[in-house]
Amino acid sequence: MSAENQINLFDLSDSGAAVAAPKVDPDLIPTSATIPIPPGTYHSMEEMKAHCDRCFRCDLGHNRTHAVVGEGNVHAQIMLVGEGPGQTEDETGRPFVGRSGELLDKILASVKLTRERDVFICNVVKCRPPENRTPTTDEAEACKGYLLEQIRMIDPKIILLTGATALKGLLGIKQGITKVRGQWIERDGRFYMPIFHPAYLLRNPSREQGSPKWLMWQDIQAVRKKLDEIQNG
Ligand code: URA
Repeated sequence: MSAENQINLFDLSDSGAAVAAPKVDPDLIPTSATIPIPPGTYHSMEEMKAHCDRCFRCDLGHNRTHAVVGEGNVHAQIMLVGEGPGQTEDETGRPFVGRSGELLDKILASVKLTRERDVFICNVVKCRPPENRTPTTDEAEACKGYLLEQIRMIDPKIILLTGATALKGLLGIKQGITKVRGQWIERDGRFYMPIFHPAYLLRNPSREQGSPKWLMWQDIQAVRKKLDEIQNG
């Protein structure tokens, strides 16, 4: 076999495993939402965070203390996507560390999952919207390339979309979360499940059958079951 053919054996470009190098100057990416973030731009979360910390693709960059890129296991099978950082997240640079985060940890723990080992947690927008308002469609779009890069790098099998903003921001689905929560949506070889946002559960503390908290309990058990199926082949 010729040397060239041997090298071709390692060319994975047709298998989808390798991603073409970006065609734009990566240093321009954080400056304007009109500059695309091609797949393959980032090689690590740290590299991406460096861009997010100086990003002005939307106006949220002007008020941030820290960009909140995400945390957890970058090799996890589960990714959880929230809406955007709140005050504590902005101050600490960590996702879901306020009251919503405490509840999220308890929900995960109820099926023996931890954010350190089993999940990578991130948000649709990496910078805090003022007064914790919902990110606008333009803000979500400006940040979407980062999220897609996170999905590409982590390559999770399961993606949990907490709340309508994550559902719309990532899959473009505009249905209310109450209608679609708990349903698996299969796309590109991944299983997406919309679930209630923990902040919504904090506002609706009833645990009665059929209540949001009760439904969340059903959903997280379905997630555990799917993960077990994936891990056990
Ligand atoms: N904290 C986050 O990081 N994201 C949310 O969506 C809510 C709280």
